[in-house]
Amino acid sequence: MKVLVINGVNLNMLGIREPDLYGDKSYASLVKSIKKEAKALGLGVKCVQSNGEGKIVTYIQRALGKYDAIVINPGAYTHTSVAILDALKAVNIPTYEVHLTDVDSREDFRKISYVSLVAKSRITGLGFEGYYKALRMIAGKDDPKENA
Ligand code: DQA
Repeated sequence: MKVLVINGVNLNMLGIREPDLYGDKSYASLVKSIKKEAKALGLGVKCVQSNGEGKIVTYIQRALGKYDAIVINPGAYTHTSVAILDALKAVNIPTYEVHLTDVDSREDFRKISYVSLVAKSRITGLGFEGYYKALRMIAGKDDPKENA
């Protein structure tokens, strides 16, 4: 199985941005650890990041026919982007929504998630572990309903 991991806006700033919230590890270290976890689970994985909403839409469109699952943390676009939701609906690839922080316990505007309307599971507040959990769900080792 091949998995596309998409990180959205400002996630390239991990390790620098608000370390009290997002931790002190970099985006590069996130990618390294996701690849390690995927390998251990026997999954193929590609990680991409963009600060552009349109670029993320293009990544999703290009996933059609190439990837069996998408793991996505759209960053702030989670709360605003109908375009990303529509792209996910268009390709109809099983999608797992991940957030490093517990978005539901933060500001009210973070409680809205367009992606969650299509996500098979929504994993929040586990830091990097959230991505590994999504991969385990895709590999059939963890139950997606647990976090839906
Ligand atoms: C985030 C939560 C969003 O509200 C925020 O805009 C982010 C990161 C998270 O991973 O916790 O950029 O998606």
